[in-house]
Amino acid sequence: MKINILTLFPEMFVPLQTSMLGRACENGILEIKVVDIRDYTLDKHNRVDEYPFGGGAGMLMQVEPIDRALTDLGAENKNVLYMSPRGRIIDKAKIEEISRDEEIYILCGHYEGVDQRAIDLWDMEELSIGDYVLTGGELAAMVLVDAVSRCVPGVLGDSACIEEESVYSGLLEHPQYTKPREYKGLSVPEVLLSGHHKNIAQWKLDEAIKLTAERRPDLLEKYYEKQKKNHEKNDDKFM
Ligand code: ADE
Repeated sequence: MKINILTLFPEMFVPLQTSMLGRACENGILEIKVVDIRDYTLDKHNRVDEYPFGGGAGMLMQVEPIDRALTDLGAENKNVLYMSPRGRIIDKAKIEEISRDEEIYILCGHYEGVDQRAIDLWDMEELSIGDYVLTGGELAAMVLVDAVSRCVPGVLGDSACIEEESVYSGLLEHPQYTKPREYKGLSVPEVLLSGHHKNIAQWKLDEAIKLTAERRPDLLEKYYEKQKKNHEKNDDKFM
């Protein structure tokens, strides 16, 4: 998958070169291209922002450098996303949908936003990472890139979105333990040391359900609905 990021602050994207994503780029599974929008301004002082018509606080990113950058990068008919607190909040389904694209473009907003014509000309989808306002779209873009990348086959290892296949899908993860068996009087639950696979699997599921009920009852409801649908599907198969 190729991810093109358009930003006024390319230096902010260094973290994407490390860890899993760095490795995926080295292996050619991912290609992340960070483009400086300023390289596309025709202004002799390298300006990319202007005061909004009709007044209002702050400055807006101008349409021309963005349009020129997207044209030069070949974004026609591609998925162009704009990170903005005004956008639809991303969730698992949206992340998985985006991860199926071969190539995407992400515009990081700055100042008070961008000229609406940039959004309209490129039919951008506006995406938010939550109901709070960041100083710019860069951190939001990194969140999106990280979440999308781990769904691209090969990035995490052999299987895409590992949790997707599991019976725990849709639940919060159960508690986990590693060595040592005892620490400051706290011990690892006995069942995890038992070697009894069925009991371990049941414990993990019970704990995941308990945690989800406590913290995210909304997710638990969806989980049970999905289970019910799966049962009905299976019943139909055997009728
Ligand atoms: N830019 C500023 N705040 C944002 C948010 N919450 N999500 C996406 N982009 C943003």
